[in-house]
Amino acid sequence: EQLRRVLQQMPKAELHIHIEGSLEPELIFALAERNGVKLNYASVEALRAAYAFTDLQSFLDIYYAGASVLLKEQDFYDMTAAYLKRAEADNVRHTEIFFDPQTHTHRGVPMDVIINGIYRACQDSPVSATLILCFLRHLSEEDAIATLEAALPYRDKFIGVGLDSSEVGNPPEKFTRVFARSRELGLHLVAHAGEEGPPAYIYTALDTLKVERIDHGVRCLEDPALTERLAREQMALTVCPLSNIKLCVFDQMEQHNLLQLLDAGIVATVNSDDPAYFGGYMNDNFIATFEALPLGLSHAQRLARNGFAAAFLPAAQKQQFL
Ligand code: ADE
Ligand code: ZN
Repeated sequence: EQLRRVLQQMPKAELHIHIEGSLEPELIFALAERNGVKLNYASVEALRAAYAFTDLQSFLDIYYAGASVLLKEQDFYDMTAAYLKRAEADNVRHTEIFFDPQTHTHRGVPMDVIINGIYRACQDSPVSATLILCFLRHLSEEDAIATLEAALPYRDKFIGVGLDSSEVGNPPEKFTRVFARSRELGLHLVAHAGEEGPPAYIYTALDTLKVERIDHGVRCLEDPALTERLAREQMALTVCPLSNIKLCVFDQMEQHNLLQLLDAGIVATVNSDDPAYFGGYMNDNFIATFEALPLGLSHAQRLARNGFAAAFLPAAQKQQFL
């Protein structure tokens, strides 16, 4: 109907997309073939059938296995170009793309291959696209520091750093020094917090890491003082509705708290997280959410505006989109 068309056609910003999570099973198999990598699945269908997750870790195990087919600069280029084409089709006008260098450097892929491949695809796309380097929080802070140092020759090709992977047991404060160093370098700062982890992790992401956005953050509503603070400080949350359902953060979309976040005055945004694994890209996320929750045209406009408002773009460039 009409609302659906509005959701599809409105210009959008995507602020929470892991590029390795955009790797579709067909491309995984094509790259495995091209690179002579052996997969533990017999077919595209068998791989897709394994996408039944019970929590974040059950997803991450398959996500890191899928990324093992990425070896050459052209592989990173092809993955990113495919995502940007899908984003363009969904009327995404600006995207801030996460990438996980440690997933690749630990397999012997050089940093320049990773960054140059992803960056070149961004330059070749009509969609405005910037990069955010994410540290894997299940690894040590020393490893994160070494990763940041290895990326510094390409400092002009990424705008910020983030923190992802297994949240529970790996609190933000484990990465205090590498975030302080990133801050000195003038990088933007974000972190996954309050996806599976408790509100305490959102507090330390804000107060210890000094992040400028919280990725997910949906568990903030368990703490009224935190909810009020996020609203007062207009601290954006990059919410990923289909992800939250697939990883069992909420049982069903009808239980998702996106509307409560908006009603609390929080700058919530809608994003796809790992679209190849969670059942859809930006428009799929908007449509699934609006079908399940009592959201209307004004919410659509507010969510689209929030995306651009929370983007790491110069004010003049934001005005073009708002
Ligand atoms: N890496 C890719 N997707 C992620 C998510 N939703 N949470 C944590 N780490 C991730
Ligand atoms: Zn994520």
